[in-house]
Amino acid sequence: MVEPRRVRSDKCAAALIQVDCPAGATAPRARTEARAAAQGAPGASISLERDTEQLAAVYDRVGFRQFEHGEVLLQDLVLKPGDKVLDVGCGTGQLTAWVHARVQPGGRATGIDPLPHRVRLATRNHPGLDFRVGRAEHLEGFAEGSFDGLYLNSVLHWIVNQDRALSEAWRVLRPGGRIALNSADRERPHDSALLLATALAKEHLERPSANRGGPSHRLSAKALGQLLESKGFVDVVVRRCSFVDQLAGVDEFIDWSLSSSFGNWLADLTSEETGRVRTRIEALLEERRSGTGIALARHMVFASARRP
Ligand SMILES: C[S@@+](CC[C@H](N)C(=O)[O-])C[C@H]1O[C@@H](n2cnc3c(N)ncnc32)[C@H](O)[C@@H]1O
Repeated sequence: MVEPRRVRSDKCAAALIQVDCPAGATAPRARTEARAAAQGAPGASISLERDTEQLAAVYDRVGFRQFEHGEVLLQDLVLKPGDKVLDVGCGTGQLTAWVHARVQPGGRATGIDPLPHRVRLATRNHPGLDFRVGRAEHLEGFAEGSFDGLYLNSVLHWIVNQDRALSEAWRVLRPGGRIALNSADRERPHDSALLLATALAKEHLERPSANRGGPSHRLSAKALGQLLESKGFVDVVVRRCSFVDQLAGVDEFIDWSLSSSFGNWLADLTSEETGRVRTRIEALLEERRSGTGIALARHMVFASARRP
């Protein structure tokens, strides 16, 4: 049996993340379809136009959860000095900078993201690194075979055309190059999604067709493994990972949800409706409060593979 690993944030002492991520598992068979209410509607539209300078700054502060599970993901890339690495969907670039430091001497991490506010912040915070505005589906700015490693951390579940994104990843990786990527688990909704579904139901604001601004292209472990194999990647390893976040309260919940979704979270509600949902969420969170804060579980699938 694999012991759960524990990762402590050096940015927020109160945020202890528990990781249960057995390494070495191959793609498991799909389980039953998860609870529909918290899943959102596949294909519902997420806009890349709702981000703001302020949301980018908030993400840079509260996105340490993604940073921390990114460190776990990157164990599978097996980075070494001299490697050229592409961070696809780099956000504000904290993980890119961490990777860049790990591939010295001689290596380089490059970041690409469609949100100009986040790319600007990344460039300002990490001068000397190469950050560009662009999308996973269009890596034309990079030559074929130009990277030893490539990763998407908390990005794939936002992408409509994942097939195209993976084709591009394959193209820019050199033969033998490695890819690591993750998605919120389609089969196991985060506690935050279940809690939101309850809050919306209590306020009679459920709309079956609405996505509510969560990542609507989540994959199961099986689907993630199949996606990589369908593109020709080999040595595909998939693992299911659960994390427990400790939150201080409703403000942190909302800051994280809104900035992680670049402004899409509850974007279809009026401000009056949002206020009601906020009050409901606060009450539901407070019911879960213990001496260490409010514990919420997130469930993800992680995968790594190699271009032969
Ligand atoms: C939750 S953030 C994760 C940011 C960063 N990877 C991290 O670990 O902090 C999700 C990111 O996915 C990016 N994204 C959304 N759609 C994308 C696409 N089609 N191609 C590349 N990135 C995309 C967003 O712009 C956003 O920065």
